[in-house]
Order: sequence, then structure tokens, then C-alpha cells
Amino acid sequence: MIADMKFFLDTANVKEIAQAHEMGVLDGVTTNPTLLSKEGRDPVQVLKEICAIVDGPVNAEVISTDCEGMLREARRWAELDEKIVVKIPMTREGMKAVRKLSEEDIPTNVTLVFSPTQALIAAKAGADYVSPFVGRLDDRSEDGMDLVSKIIQIFDNYGFETEVIVASIRHPMHVVEAALMGADIATMPYAVFEKLFEHPLTDLGLQQFLADWGKLKR
Ligand code: G3P
Repeated sequence: MIADMKFFLDTANVKEIAQAHEMGVLDGVTTNPTLLSKEGRDPVQVLKEICAIVDGPVNAEVISTDCEGMLREARRWAELDEKIVVKIPMTREGMKAVRKLSEEDIPTNVTLVFSPTQALIAAKAGADYVSPFVGRLDDRSEDGMDLVSKIIQIFDNYGFETEVIVASIRHPMHVVEAALMGADIATMPYAVFEKLFEHPLTDLGLQQFLADWGKLKR
């Protein structure tokens, strides 16, 4: 059994990361070029700020498409902070880079994973993490969580230590299903993270408790 299910925030927004960190249950952060671009600031500065807040892994992605370029970028990202995990896309060039980076002890997360064979290849190449994108599969009427279940079974069959990051999460049920399957990590937008805390019966119950306490003659 895995000791803990880790919650990552899938954002490059420092304010959201600081708020989630305060809750005491944030284990890491994933970013990608789209998320960093949304912030409209120097990505290196943003990543530095994120690393200063978060205790766990902070994922930064390469944008090169050739192995040499990816290696150059990965080494630069890794120099930024020891928390950095380098996201590498699931391509042939990407897998060559993952193999080299694993020999250099630079942690990698293989991203844009949409099939069990892609996850298996990433694990064989030496990836520390794989990121199946469940929401993007669901958007195409394919079953994202079924992919996660298959990847977990394959990794268990062979004792791969590669951790499964359930990515492209759209709602809390993705998190629940990921936990039921024993996925290592769920990375989610801040809006989904917030929803994990909420239930209307909690609010109503608390309201009632406080109202009843107020009626007590003290
Ligand atoms: O960061 C990778 C992944 O979580 C992206 O999600 O919402 O763009 O499909 P999304």
C-alpha cells in the first residue's frame, strides 16, 4: 500500500499556491508552458517563487522538441532548485532525454501520456513520474480513469517505481477515483482543490451547532 496520496496543484499562480500551502495538505506543483504563459511574468522568477513556497516537487517543462535541446533546458531547470522535476513530452526524442537525465539523477515527469504503452515506455526509459491526462481523454469520450487504472496495474505487475500523477483533472470525482485506484498523486487546478474541502451539510451543521450554542443560558 502507498503511504500517502499526494495532492499537487496544477498551476503557476503563486497566490493560489501560497493559499493551498497554508492548508497544510499541498505536496507539490505541476506547471506547463500554457500555465506559465498565463501568468505573463518571467517564468524563471515564477518558478523560483513557487520553489520558495512549496516543500515538495515543483515541475517545470521543456519546450525543445529534440533530445539535445531538452537536455540543455532540463539541466538549466535542475540548477534552479533541488525541488525541480523536469517535464518531458512523451515523444521518441523525449524518451532519449529521459534515459540520459535518469543517468544524471535529474528527476523527470513524462507528460502528455494518453495510452498504457506510452506510460510503459516512459517507465522503462527511467521516468520518475508519468502524467496521464484524464480530462483531455474524457473530453473526447475516452475513459481517462480507465487509462490510470491500467497504468497502475502494469506498474504493479513489474514493480516499476515510477509514480503515477493523475493530470488534467476536471472535478473532485477524478480525485476520488484516483484515490480508490491507489494513484500516487493527483494534480489539480486550484478550483478543484477548493471543492475537496466543501459539503453543504458541513456548513448547515456548523450553522446549527453555533445557533444552538447561542441559545444556551450561560
Ligand atoms: O499540466 C498538465 C495537465 O494537468 C493539463 O491539464 O486542464 O490543460 O487538460 P488541462
